[in-house]
Amino acid sequence: MVKVFLTGASGLVGGEALHQIASQPSEHQMSCLVRDAEKGSIIKKAYPDVRIVEGDLDSIDIIRKEAKDADVVFHLASTNHLPSATAILEGISDKSRSTPGYWIQISGGTLVAGDEIAAGRYGEAPEKSYNDLTDTEEIRAVVKKNAGRAVDNLVIAQSPEKAHVALIAGPIIHGEGRGPVNRRSIQAPEITRLTLQRGKAPVIGKGLNVWSAVHIHDLGKLFALLLDAAVSKNNNVWNENGLYFPENERLSFGGIGRAIAAEAHKQKFTPSADVETITAEKANSPSGHAAVIWGTNANLTGSRAKEQLGWKPTGPTFMSGVSDLVRSEAKRLGISPAT
Ligand SMILES: NC(=O)c1ccc[n+]([C@@H]2O[C@H](COP(=O)([O-])OP(=O)(O)OC[C@H]3O[C@@H](n4cnc5c(N)ncnc54)[C@H](OP(=O)(O)O)[C@@H]3O)[C@@H](O)[C@H]2O)c1
Repeated sequence: MVKVFLTGASGLVGGEALHQIASQPSEHQMSCLVRDAEKGSIIKKAYPDVRIVEGDLDSIDIIRKEAKDADVVFHLASTNHLPSATAILEGISDKSRSTPGYWIQISGGTLVAGDEIAAGRYGEAPEKSYNDLTDTEEIRAVVKKNAGRAVDNLVIAQSPEKAHVALIAGPIIHGEGRGPVNRRSIQAPEITRLTLQRGKAPVIGKGLNVWSAVHIHDLGKLFALLLDAAVSKNNNVWNENGLYFPENERLSFGGIGRAIAAEAHKQKFTPSADVETITAEKANSPSGHAAVIWGTNANLTGSRAKEQLGWKPTGPTFMSGVSDLVRSEAKRLGISPAT
């Protein structure tokens, strides 16, 4: 029986991972760190075999012990919480274990955007693209240069003798998850919320900046494949072979804003299909970190998961989901179409 410890089960990413792992035929003993008792009961009701571990990311002793007892750890609650990441590393590399454990860590597309953020360069076309299979050394150098990416740096510094690690840099994650609590993503839903509330879609600067994108179900599939690899002790897909950029398309944020604006107008939620050009500073106040996550470039190509794990993204494209996105955000906000 493989023991899996997962954080973020009440979130979009962790919830989808839980859904896909729990749906696998092989047997797992799962424990999930949950800080909210009510969410813990929802998860337990949906997945009665899951053991709920009460605690938050600062419950270091609990996290270290759970990681020590687990074969595989999915840390999907946060990209940048160093104490919990360190506790996981200590747990999976504990000397009492016969072999090191496996640690799958969520990261984000901004891991390559350090220079743009430092220069305040937002809304501009990409100057670089990064392939996770062929540009690995360059990507590692970019991450190492950015001390602020403390968890990414901790992960990429590990040797297989100490810990088997995989770093999954999420690009734009779109679509509705199938987890037990939150199923809503961040970037496009927030742009849609503001479009519906303000009547125009916000676009930072020229809107030429590009991110790759993946459907949440396809991202979940990658987690399931990595779990399979850990269970079958396929040790060739971790550490120096463990940096993944799951994606299957590229989108500019200007294009995203225009598509959402057009759809909101088509569904009669807004008086026009206009977009509103805003500065990065102005974007941050109505939606936290907006400049960084709507204004930078994450022009990432994901070859590694396809090559090493046979990952095949089959989910719907971003644009095919815009109409549902507008509808569901309007419903969530209680906004009705004009009559
Ligand atoms: N969605 C995207 O497009 C995307 C793309 C790339 C990377 N990411 C990153 O991946 C991570 C997960 O994203 P998400 O979309 O799944 O976010 P989410 O839906 O907000 O879920 C976050 C999850 O982490 C848990 N969590 C957060 N802080 C915690 C703490 N201090 N202690 C215990 N649990 C904590 C939340 O618990 P509660 O339910 O109790 O709040 C929830 O289960 C985030 O760091 C996000 O920035 C997201």
